[in-house]
Amino acid sequence: MEYKQALAIQLSPHLADIPHVDIINSIEQPPNSQMGHFAYPCFRLAKAMRKAPPAIAAELAASIMEKPLPAWLQSVESAGGYVNFYLDKPSFASRVLENVHNQNQNYGRSGIGDGKVVLIDYSSPNIAKQFHVGHLGTTVIGRALYNIFNYQGYETIGINYLGDWGTSFGKLLTAYLKWGNKEEIEETGIEALTRIYVRFHEEADKDPSLEEEARNWVVKMENGNEEGLAIWRWLCSISMREYQKIYDRLGINFESYRGESYYNDKMEAAVEEIRKSGLLIESNGAQVVDLEEHKMPPCLILRRDGGTLYATRDITAAMDRYATYRFDKSLYVTANEQKLHFAQFFKVLELMEYPWAKNMEHVPYGLFIFDSGKMSTRKGQVIKLKDLLDESVAKTLDIIREKSPNLENKEEVAEQVGIGAVIFNQLYNSRIKDVVFSWERMLNFEGETGPYVQYTHARTCSIMEKAGYDPSSTQTQLSQATDWEVLANDESFEVLRLLYNFPDRIAESADKYEPFILSRFLIALAQAFNKFYNAHKVLTGDENQAKRLVLVSAVSIVLENGLKLLGISAPKKM
Ligand code: ARG
Repeated sequence: MEYKQALAIQLSPHLADIPHVDIINSIEQPPNSQMGHFAYPCFRLAKAMRKAPPAIAAELAASIMEKPLPAWLQSVESAGGYVNFYLDKPSFASRVLENVHNQNQNYGRSGIGDGKVVLIDYSSPNIAKQFHVGHLGTTVIGRALYNIFNYQGYETIGINYLGDWGTSFGKLLTAYLKWGNKEEIEETGIEALTRIYVRFHEEADKDPSLEEEARNWVVKMENGNEEGLAIWRWLCSISMREYQKIYDRLGINFESYRGESYYNDKMEAAVEEIRKSGLLIESNGAQVVDLEEHKMPPCLILRRDGGTLYATRDITAAMDRYATYRFDKSLYVTANEQKLHFAQFFKVLELMEYPWAKNMEHVPYGLFIFDSGKMSTRKGQVIKLKDLLDESVAKTLDIIREKSPNLENKEEVAEQVGIGAVIFNQLYNSRIKDVVFSWERMLNFEGETGPYVQYTHARTCSIMEKAGYDPSSTQTQLSQATDWEVLANDESFEVLRLLYNFPDRIAESADKYEPFILSRFLIALAQAFNKFYNAHKVLTGDENQAKRLVLVSAVSIVLENGLKLLGISAPKKM
């Protein structure tokens, strides 16, 4: 039931001059139910009505109360400048629960995005380099957004824009041909590649001709040299094999793997387009688009030697993506340090007058800080994502062994919870904030963590199991029950209020590209549920037990739906 709409219908006859939608949009949900379940603020009416807001609120409340209220509305009061509405709690309970159970694993879904296409460029690691924790943010934020948009009806296209081209491949190729060992690379993958890459730099310090050789390889490959390209393809497959293991553990797949190399032979035409639009100017021998008017440094398109740049490729890729998908929105999830790059190439496409340029958006996120400071590839102290996940799973397994010695599939659950903890930890704050990593905080089963939400979900499952509760009986239960007084207490109401708000929270996460709105919601729901559970015995064996179980199973459904949207599994036992 759309309460805001129904309340606006109550208000409308007394607010003749105000459009119905404006009334709906002004209705708020006070942070605390004592201040009304819904409230209509009268402050903006004061000027036109030439009255103080409290007087307006008092009159409005009195006029509404003159007529008998509908059954779902218990009372209307004024407080300060607000008209406060109090719902009839039992009927609220029955409506919310019916809604959740009817829609079940689709509860929270919407059709807002029906017929629209959203592209999400995320993860996009650089081939032959370790998948390190710096790529955790883009990978899990991107995936959560992918799921959230999908749930809103959008056709979602996940794009892994692999960093599979550039000068580093020339170096790698040179290094491989000099010191590489095929079997070793087949066996240890990126680790062996990193070793020869480091060696290249050491040797090049002594013998600068190596750099020349590396550059030559890039040129040769760009001209189609089959020997070089064959090795390059093999290096890519070695790297992908390792990345795929991570993606499998995170439950991620992509619709497109068009990486940087895909655009090698397409950039010339794109540069030609920029030239035709009259934007390309020469600057110190290079070709650039001047962005001074837009308060940005020039966007480099062609180097002095004719070489292309990161922006050249991204401009080309954006054109290709529009041609392929006709997107309504195109998101790029990367670290905040790339902010300028995106602002620049978006502006170039806008200046080229592509109407779709305004539908591209950079979705930045902060650093991942691990006790001792920023992670750095250069200092060689990078932390591999695989190691982080493994350690989290191992630590979780220890906790499970201690807490639930009788659990059957401990390893499987530890994998789900250990990985869920890492994902949730990344998604718990506003994207742009740095993630300051702490094992204790992340794996605290009672803290504001993934394990806590998963644990609460497992608890709802075990309550239902103990009661021999059959979820399919819920429909009967709901249709037969008329009196939901047993769920009219404050603790139940708070749980119900949150369940009711779930669809709005999903929409808000999508609007702001902020999965943390959802993760915070899940913590609030888990906390409210545990508070309810501590205050009210569920398994009483009397006729009220079944109704409380309907609430428990609704919480179970919403926690599971929410966890899945974040890319986290919801084990039934923990
Ligand atoms: N490969 C890049 C990196 O690791 C990220 C690519 C982001 N996507 C893009 N279209 N530029 O930093």
